[in-house]
Amino acid sequence: MAFPTILTQGLCMALLVLTLRASSFASASRELGEMSMIERHERWMAQHGKAYEDAAEKERRFEIFKSNFELIQTFNNGNHKFRLGLNRFADLTNDEFRATHNGFRPKSGAAASTAKRFRYENVTAVPASMDWRAEGAVTPVKDQGQCGCCWAFSAVAATEGIAKLATGKLVSLSEQELVDCDVHGQDQGCDGGLMDSAFDFIVKNRGLTTEANYPYKGADGKCNTRKADAAASISGHEDVPANHESALLKAVAHQPVSVAIDAGGFAFQMYEGGVFTGDCGTDLDHGVTAVGYGVASDGTKYWLIKNSWGSSWGENGYIRMERDVNSKEGLCGIAMEASYPTA
Ligand SMILES: *[C@@H]1O[C@H](CO)[C@@H](O)[C@H](O)[C@H]1NC(C)=O
Repeated sequence: MAFPTILTQGLCMALLVLTLRASSFASASRELGEMSMIERHERWMAQHGKAYEDAAEKERRFEIFKSNFELIQTFNNGNHKFRLGLNRFADLTNDEFRATHNGFRPKSGAAASTAKRFRYENVTAVPASMDWRAEGAVTPVKDQGQCGCCWAFSAVAATEGIAKLATGKLVSLSEQELVDCDVHGQDQGCDGGLMDSAFDFIVKNRGLTTEANYPYKGADGKCNTRKADAAASISGHEDVPANHESALLKAVAHQPVSVAIDAGGFAFQMYEGGVFTGDCGTDLDHGVTAVGYGVASDGTKYWLIKNSWGSSWGENGYIRMERDVNSKEGLCGIAMEASYPTA
């Protein structure tokens, strides 16, 4: 007799829970929709290891999650070359997202690029596609967390790339060393910075140490000079001539390149996969790394971009962004402030 009793109890409990939860909502017609949205939020929280301070915060986050979900559904039902999804940023408003996950400071007028050597200017032929991951010149995707130091991740990824091409060894280098020690001029740790000034620091510092030696903390810290044995160095950096995707192509054909983009939009926040075609402007607010380019199966040309938002965002941490668009700045301003370190 024990077996059926337990079953019955189980069923009763399940019914009771359903009734209690349902009765807390005023409108009966809202019930099913809300229930599944609550479950979707719970599942998403578990998947991304999210926890909230209290019930009020959870309710607030739920409302944002729900609104984002609805925007994503509407977008994905339209005809686009890319999809949005419930990634780890799904409980943030777009304003919150902008405030905490980027950190590129565009060059001020004075610092803007003066005519400089561009070593790839006379390149005439480039491969039809390039993927520096396949050449072993790209470390696994990293995660800047809540610190606005995209500039450090971008500069480090480009440095890791040129160091691999120069020495044959791929070594993961320290962003935290830049965050803690490169606190000059436009580079302000988690408050933002610029890849070009990071390259200048790396030259003066005679290189960067390894990620393992000086690990990432995701917060500003005091410079630990005892940890600073250089594992890779560069001799300088050059700017890609601004507003020419064709010049950017020559550079990316030869090495991973730091690029600044406008990544503040909702579509970028919730990007899941496909070739991103916007919506974005040219208010550069994020530093990332172009690690290749290619042509999608439908003929759309793209840049292959390594981001620093962990591997659960986008295409395993990468985004493919449309290439050769109508505006000279490139999509999201990608051709405006590109630069690369030199061996
Ligand atoms: C490109 O070619 C021009 C003309 O031959 C030459 O003056 C220039 O130095 C070359 N640029 C580089 C980076 O080699």
